[in-house]
Amino acid sequence: MVGENLEIADKFAADVAAAADLPDAEIRDMIETPPDPQMGDLALPCFKLAKTMRRSPRDIAAGLAEKIGTPDYADRVAVEGGYLNIYVRPEAYVETVLLPAAEAGTEWGKSDEGQGRTVVIDYSSINIAKPFHIGHLSSTAIGSALYKIYGYLGYNVVGVNHLGDWGTQFGKMIAAYKHWGSDEEIEKGGVDALMQLYVRFHTEAEADDSLNEEGRMWFRRIEEGDEEAVRIFGWFKDLTLREAAGVYEKLDVKFDSYAGESFYESMLPAVIAELREKNLLEESEGAEIVRLDEYDLSPMIVLKSDGATLYATRDLAAAEYRKRTYDFDRNLYVVAYQQNLHFRQLFAALEKMGYEWARDCEHVAFGMVSLEDQTLSTRHGNVVLLKDVLNRAVEKTIEIIDQKNPGLENKEEIAAQIGIGAVLYSALSQSRIKDITFNWDRVLNFDGETGPYVQYAHTRCVSVLGRAGEIGAEPDFRVLDNPQAVAVMKLIGQFPEAVKLAAERNEPFYVTRSITELAQAFNRYYYDHKIITPDDPAATAARLVLTRVVRDVLRRGLALLGIRAPEKM
Ligand code: ARG
Repeated sequence: MVGENLEIADKFAADVAAAADLPDAEIRDMIETPPDPQMGDLALPCFKLAKTMRRSPRDIAAGLAEKIGTPDYADRVAVEGGYLNIYVRPEAYVETVLLPAAEAGTEWGKSDEGQGRTVVIDYSSINIAKPFHIGHLSSTAIGSALYKIYGYLGYNVVGVNHLGDWGTQFGKMIAAYKHWGSDEEIEKGGVDALMQLYVRFHTEAEADDSLNEEGRMWFRRIEEGDEEAVRIFGWFKDLTLREAAGVYEKLDVKFDSYAGESFYESMLPAVIAELREKNLLEESEGAEIVRLDEYDLSPMIVLKSDGATLYATRDLAAAEYRKRTYDFDRNLYVVAYQQNLHFRQLFAALEKMGYEWARDCEHVAFGMVSLEDQTLSTRHGNVVLLKDVLNRAVEKTIEIIDQKNPGLENKEEIAAQIGIGAVLYSALSQSRIKDITFNWDRVLNFDGETGPYVQYAHTRCVSVLGRAGEIGAEPDFRVLDNPQAVAVMKLIGQFPEAVKLAAERNEPFYVTRSITELAQAFNRYYYDHKIITPDDPAATAARLVLTRVVRDVLRRGLALLGIRAPEKM
């Protein structure tokens, strides 16, 4: 089940399993966390057991309660309807969660469960000579978070930026450059300048069709590997990647490979031949298609009637290449929901080709991102550039710091960490398939469920620990025997599970939620309890252990999401 404390749940499951004479794992799967701690810390619903045991769930729960008695980790065991509930002793949380977490420090939840297994993640995957716009935010943020999360769990991870760098438009762009381009302006203007050339090409081509012929000619020259064409195209690519590098750096995003669509071009004849050999190609109106009727999908076109290949053909080659090169256990595509059909066709075609590993491919889809604030969308029609969003977030953060904490040292740097963190957090703040509408006040609200809120809780821990200094006394953990501290410890105990689940379901949001709840619980604890009580060093020492663990878990959780954790803000 989702999110219960692992070790205590394991023990509880083992005790119940022994009492019921059933396998541990079967019981373990049934254990839940009651929504309200008033109903206990862990619960075993006995409804499923009722079938095989032929008794009422209530009777079963009562029978089990009698058999297990009060185990050493529990204060009390209770039967409630068809549930067997246990109330865990606060000391048990100290033993099974707090102390191990304190020992692990910022490595709490780290594991090697993925050892020997490889995950390929295709994310961000921007297009050459096109703006890096807000639509790429989710792919970049989710993909990069998954990259970090899988790595933390010991997987071998390969991050791929599958560049959109193939297509007739690049021939047109070269033609436009040849007519109207200046090296200097393009160097200076970058993608912006290239876009302008492209727009001009289309306007002029309406009056003069020979331009289109020129564009086709230049694309043919790229295909044939003509020196000049390849050089100019390479330069456009360079410019685009140089601009993107700035955004990646800000977002703490890295890739192991930039093999884009053009990289696979030379492998396409072999892919087509393979499809033909396997009898999967069919001619339809001059085009070559793969029928996918048995999947209830429209056919996948792999060769157009003019002999041109497609995005889909290149993705077939890319999937084969990734399997061959990385021998992946999982092959993920973090791409917008709109490409749902494309990926279903891709995976179905791979399956028809006889590849068992088609099952290991997954489309990690996400919803749309839009901005309530329209002021950023003027430069490129309706397109909002990601770098503009990040810059605006930082500017706004500076305004907030100027109000709240004008004397802050390193203001600019911290504002960047907060502003960019806020944008990343909001991209990872709900289940990925939901659409996101960006609202600055909400994203930057220090009191809401936001990046700054979690960062602030982290700085609070840092500041308490700094104020306390070294305490020599042996901690007396009995002071953590209160509902607020227990709530904090429970959430610390759930963090490793959240990280695992995030990988299992390719949903970084589990991590976001886990650290947000931890930050909230710690703040509640902080308001209700003084942490530093000089007349009681042993109690202080125990509270500081709690504070340090919270600091480390928040820092780690933020890092897994690509968000920096400033020490002050
Ligand atoms: N460049 C594409 C786009 O911007 C995304 C590519 C995703 N990856 C892939 N292997 N198809 O829509």
